[in-house]
Amino acid sequence: MAAKMLFKVVLMFMVVNCFSWYGSGWSTQGDKQSALEEVKKDYDAWISWQILQRSKINSVNNVKDKNGRSNSLTGLEKKVREAEEDKRVIIVCPNGRGDFTTIKDAVHSIDINNTRRTVVYIKAGLYREKVLVPKTKPFVTFMGDESEQPIITGNDTASTIGMDGKPMKTFHSATVAVNSDYFIAYNIRFENTAPYPEAGSVGGQAVALRISGNKAAFYNCSFYGTQDTLYDHKGLHYFKSCFIQGSMDFIFGYGRSLYANCLIRSIAKGVAALTAQKRSNASMASGFSFLNCRITGSGLVYLGRAWGDHSRVVFGYTYMDSIVLPEGWNDWGCPERERTVYYAQYNCTGPGANTTGRVQWGRILSDEEASPFLSTSFIRGTKWLMGHPSLSLIIPCLIC
Ligand SMILES: *[C@@H]1O[C@H](CO)[C@@H](O)[C@H](O)[C@H]1NC(C)=O
Ligand SMILES: *[C@@H]1O[C@H](CO)[C@@H](O)[C@H](O)[C@H]1NC(C)=O
Ligand SMILES: *[C@@H]1O[C@H](CO)[C@@H](O)[C@H](O)[C@H]1NC(C)=O
Ligand SMILES: *[C@@H]1O[C@H](CO)[C@@H](O)[C@H](O)[C@H]1NC(C)=O
Ligand SMILES: *[C@@H]1O[C@H](CO)[C@@H](O)[C@H](O)[C@H]1NC(C)=O
Ligand SMILES: *[C@@H]1O[C@H](CO)[C@@H](O)[C@H](O)[C@H]1NC(C)=O
Repeated sequence: MAAKMLFKVVLMFMVVNCFSWYGSGWSTQGDKQSALEEVKKDYDAWISWQILQRSKINSVNNVKDKNGRSNSLTGLEKKVREAEEDKRVIIVCPNGRGDFTTIKDAVHSIDINNTRRTVVYIKAGLYREKVLVPKTKPFVTFMGDESEQPIITGNDTASTIGMDGKPMKTFHSATVAVNSDYFIAYNIRFENTAPYPEAGSVGGQAVALRISGNKAAFYNCSFYGTQDTLYDHKGLHYFKSCFIQGSMDFIFGYGRSLYANCLIRSIAKGVAALTAQKRSNASMASGFSFLNCRITGSGLVYLGRAWGDHSRVVFGYTYMDSIVLPEGWNDWGCPERERTVYYAQYNCTGPGANTTGRVQWGRILSDEEASPFLSTSFIRGTKWLMGHPSLSLIIPCLIC
């Protein structure tokens, strides 16, 4: 009952302003503690869930070319192949026994116009750094310690005052920002620990990772934040076996991205949206496809709300917990967008996947309609994706 009322209040909020829907935070210290325990529980569940899913992952989402070859360099763009054939590894260890003690310094050391796959091996630890991988440094890999994800953490928000004396805005709040192409991350935990935005507050957006580079892949990574956790800004992106947590619009931007086998966890208090996809015109090749994912957590969530007029989001073979609102989708207070968005689900399961109460303009796809969204061809993967590497190919960090 309370949730229903809350829902109405927030909706009114949205009608007033198409573009800003802030707040709905009622955070207390006690909440925080139990929320932390909840997160831990969910994270553990994620790990065991992943192990269970392993065979499914391999059968459905293995990166293979038409001839069934995987993990091979054939079919890749020439410069990708050349970069992979000329790999190098640099090591970051907090204790000083690697090449660098900070990720920032490691990135700084990479040559401008880099053409080699440069693997930055990151030993487990807490890295309190703001990291930017500039446009001029392509082919960078962040490879986290397999035994324990290194944590890159920060707490900037859109309203934090930057070096220039002005608020940073959402774009610059990111703990890690990647502007270069062909970026890869394995086993990294990206965090933004800014507190849950207070109800009605403005400027609480706090990005953990912003990916603006093209052809980027994230494997076995986790993204922790509240509002605006993962800024899937632009380009072709692949997220596989990742954990994504947030409260509001926590996967947003106009990337063209495939999320495969990811666990998506809402920590919303009230009503929120999982995605805010910003495809703003019909000619933009942009959209989010979620495949074999799992949606859990707290609060009530829309699967998406229309940040762009032509916002496009598809959920396939995804388990949806009862936190997903029966309506499913939201027009962000702009009814004209209902005619132009592409919001769909296909073969989903769980109590939140029931389509009986869905908005009229939400789609249920047929096998044929769904097919473009169900594989890595959605992101033209055969040209640039290499699949999960065999770790033995990378020199493990034995010295630190
Ligand atoms: C990097 O490449 C750009 C474009 O080809 C070129 O203009 C620039 O001078 C190069 N910079 C360096 C430091 O090599
Ligand atoms: C994925 O991350 C978890 C948690 O850090 C770790 O236990 C597991 O070994 C990782 N899996 C792979 C394939 O790297
Ligand atoms: C952000 O983190 C810094 C460094 O740990 C800390 O001093 C500061 O109080 C934090 N700010 C907020 C708003 O939590
Ligand atoms: C569509 O949006 C993109 C990105 O904002 C822009 O570059 C392009 O010119 C737009 N196209 C049309 C037809 O409006
Ligand atoms: C759903 O999935 C099953 C099993 O993969 C398949 O047979 C069926 O055709 C799919 N289609 C729809 C529309 O649910
Ligand atoms: C879906 O929801 C409707 C309305 O609440 C309900 O009658 C129906 O039994 C549900 N279907 C399933 C498969 O749970």
